[in-house]
Amino acid sequence: MSILITGGAGYIGAHTCVELLNAGYEIVVIDNFYNSQKESLTRVSEITGKSFPFYMCDIRDRAGLEKIFKNEKPEAVIHFAGLKAVGESCRLPLEYYDNNVSGTLTLCEVMQQFGCKNLVFSSSATVYGENNISPLKETMPAGGTTNPYGTTKYMIEIILQDLCKADKDFSVCLLRYFNPIGAHESGRIGENPNGIPNNLMPYITQVAIGRREKLSVFGNDYDTHDGTGVRDYIHVVDLAKGHVKALDYCIKNTGAEIFNLGTGTGYSVLDVVNAFKKASGADVPYEIAPRRPGDIATCYSDPTKAALILGWYAEKSLEDMCRDSWRWQSKNPNGYGE
Ligand code: NAD
Ligand code: UD1
Repeated sequence: MSILITGGAGYIGAHTCVELLNAGYEIVVIDNFYNSQKESLTRVSEITGKSFPFYMCDIRDRAGLEKIFKNEKPEAVIHFAGLKAVGESCRLPLEYYDNNVSGTLTLCEVMQQFGCKNLVFSSSATVYGENNISPLKETMPAGGTTNPYGTTKYMIEIILQDLCKADKDFSVCLLRYFNPIGAHESGRIGENPNGIPNNLMPYITQVAIGRREKLSVFGNDYDTHDGTGVRDYIHVVDLAKGHVKALDYCIKNTGAEIFNLGTGTGYSVLDVVNAFKKASGADVPYEIAPRRPGDIATCYSDPTKAALILGWYAEKSLEDMCRDSWRWQSKNPNGYGE
């Protein structure tokens, strides 16, 4: 019996593979390497001292999935595979709906066919939309997403909840991630964005390493303690450990359950810049730029439900996140490419 990890070569997937192997699980990875390299999986093996099978396969490839399910007989699936760039999703909505929504449908159909009915899904705090007030709780109304990427996550949540209503043997954990940053403390695996980073931490580390001239801080006139946007940054290793707990829960239960995975603490853009400078000793020149369309002032979680039901809570500090992001960036200035 093993756990199938879709998108396991990606940023969060690779860190979760490490935690699953450390927890004694057997894993099988599938990835189409659209946004990742095989090297990340080699490094997962190096870090853990364990090997595992991986398949280059697209989740929309039904025949490919059937073969893998037949060979590997997974007991559960952790489903990371998907496209995740907000701006790109506005330009290429059909690709996003096809990859994320159709891909998940195909995966679930094959799971059902093979009697594998435990699924942990990567959702996002983006499904809370613009209208809920932080701290965000799982009981708040979801929807009102502002871009196709967010809408795919919302649609998939609904599809999986409907699946659990129709098939009482199915068990699904919908994990709503807040803002994952940081890297494994070995500095061997980390976030490796293509092109110009959209997200704050990879942009900061690329400025610090000299690949970009300066950070643009998108707005300093929000209603926050210093005027810059506030988010719930969570260390990717804490997030990965949350998947191990969610998997344990998923295997023992049925039905659909939603969990926030966040720290419950919000930090502003300037808090992160200052913490990063302190942790790295590197300079991060920045300028104040106009607000980024679609951004909200404040977004952070109420993480109580995951603590109560899964026994999971984030342990690492903003300083840990900054130190580990910097270690990864400085040891791998060009990501997995060098
Ligand atoms: P990532 O791009 O690093 O990882 C996704 C992986 O899925 C990549 O290895 C990619 O090659 C693979 N993939 C994409 N489409 C595929 C397909 N059709 N078939 C097989 N493999 C495919 O992204 P990540 O940051 O590790 O995110 C993992 C999941 O978490 C995604 O679903 C993402 O939407 C979600 N999420 C991420 C964040 C974040 O800030 N990183 C926040 C909320 C939710
Ligand atoms: C973004 C996405 C969200 C997605 C998440 C993880 C948008 C509107 N939201 O969230 O859907 O789930 O990434 O992939 O794109 N910032 C700067 N300068 C930068 C980059 C960011 O000031 O160069 C600020 C932002 O305005 C925000 C904070 O830093 O206040 C965090 O931004 P980011 O890392 O992009 O995450 P989110 O916007 O929270």
